[in-house]
Amino acid sequence: MIRAAVIGWPVSQSRSPLIHSHWLEHFGIDGDYRRLAIEPDRIDSFFARFADSGLAGCNVTIPYKEIAARAAGHRQPIVERIGAANTLWMENGELCADNTDGVGFVANLDERAPGWAKIPGEALVLGAGGAAAAVVDALVERGFMVRIVNRTLSRAEALAERYPGRASADVLSAANRYAVTAGFIVNTTSLGMKGDGAIDLDMSVVPSDAVITDIVYVPLVTPFLQAATDRGLRIADGLGMLLHQAVPGFARWFERRPAVTPELRALIEADL
Ligand code: ATR
Repeated sequence: MIRAAVIGWPVSQSRSPLIHSHWLEHFGIDGDYRRLAIEPDRIDSFFARFADSGLAGCNVTIPYKEIAARAAGHRQPIVERIGAANTLWMENGELCADNTDGVGFVANLDERAPGWAKIPGEALVLGAGGAAAAVVDALVERGFMVRIVNRTLSRAEALAERYPGRASADVLSAANRYAVTAGFIVNTTSLGMKGDGAIDLDMSVVPSDAVITDIVYVPLVTPFLQAATDRGLRIADGLGMLLHQAVPGFARWFERRPAVTPELRALIEADL
């Protein structure tokens, strides 16, 4: 039996077991994917002894994505660039690390908002945390000029500095100014999650052909996405990013490339 897991602290919120179990069943693979809650004082030894864990690999969630990147002996270029990993596997006796959040983000938009990257204008990213790092990297790769706005300016600046001439930083309250010329806007902050405060962005200034997305997927339609919908803008919710980021890990561990189907999406939606 091939075993994989998602590790985190806490990890009970993770929907990854539902996704991978669905694919295991679909392919009829003798495999197992489960949540593994690892206490902070055990995480270093967990990585050090990974080869003896019986796992083919794992996904990594909060708060271990940075530690995972450092613990790996071999890192994909994206992990080197953003310093965080969400997918690990063993290869030739070495722990290898990838970060699939960016490819998941892009695949979701390609599926839910075709043509999103060809709309004239800049990309406006709200937030500058761990999730924003993967999103900004993917947007620069797609050729966007990226405006990063964040409550804490220094975090936005540190992120923008990685992409000279391709990204700039400003305070969160400047969002409306950049929204006027944006072709694409994404919320990567935790605002809007389960009734938290909402993003203060005036959708009436946003160009009518812009695409709006949120990486928050509980609720599926955040107040931010609802405001965009009310204004008649095209939106993509955040659930697809979660589904698509899972594909490369499954393909590595179980050696079959799964698809993100409407059936899978409905299964996870029913669990939100
Ligand atoms: P993640 O890895 O999920 O991105 P994170 O690194 O803690 O989590 O980042 C959370 C993001 O949400 C940050 O951009 C954070 O802004 P700060 O860098 O200023 O902390 C943003 N955020 C969280 N709560 C917020 C709030 N009440 N108002 C505005 N921004 C908020």
